[in-house]
Amino acid sequence: MVITLIGYRGCGKSSVAPRLARRLGWSWVDSDDVIEQRAGCSVKDIFEHEGEAGFRKRESEVLADLLQQQNVVIASGGGVILAEANRQMIKSAGPVVWLHVSVAILARRLGERSSVQRRPSLTGKPITEEVAEVMAVREPLYRECATLIMDAESERPEQVARRIERHLAEQAQQTQEDSTV
Ligand code: S3P
Repeated sequence: MVITLIGYRGCGKSSVAPRLARRLGWSWVDSDDVIEQRAGCSVKDIFEHEGEAGFRKRESEVLADLLQQQNVVIASGGGVILAEANRQMIKSAGPVVWLHVSVAILARRLGERSSVQRRPSLTGKPITEEVAEVMAVREPLYRECATLIMDAESERPEQVARRIERHLAEQAQQTQEDSTV
């Protein structure tokens, strides 16, 4: 089984994934890291040389491979839910946890210099405008894909991971009870 963390850039997927994996005794992987290793360059470079379409193709290929693994928590890229095929693959591999953070907080985190330098712009617009515009398109897709929605705005990653672990255990227990009725 695979647990996939989804959510907008800056929602904390890469901070929560290793903590959740440690609690479960699983491994974890950041899909952007694998894309970069395979391409031999940064996500920003891929966007620059191959455009977003080139990046999305690489992202879907890496996702399909990662979802074959067992007992792994995947920190996915923020736009992975855009492709219907990706959403189907993620959902059929195991629980999908959407780390929900408000647009205002995301814009503040993503406006920091280290983030601006690392992450390619998605629209070329100022960050506050970009987050609002892109989130309006993606929110229904995150919602559609998620089997668990977690508020990830006000707690530290360790606490978010602990809550996810608890909720997933409750969901699993419920599923078991339902199947024995
Ligand atoms: C993207 C999010 C990034 C990365 C790429 C595109 C997006 O991942 O995949 O820059 O479209 O939101 P993170 O969410 O890990 O920053």
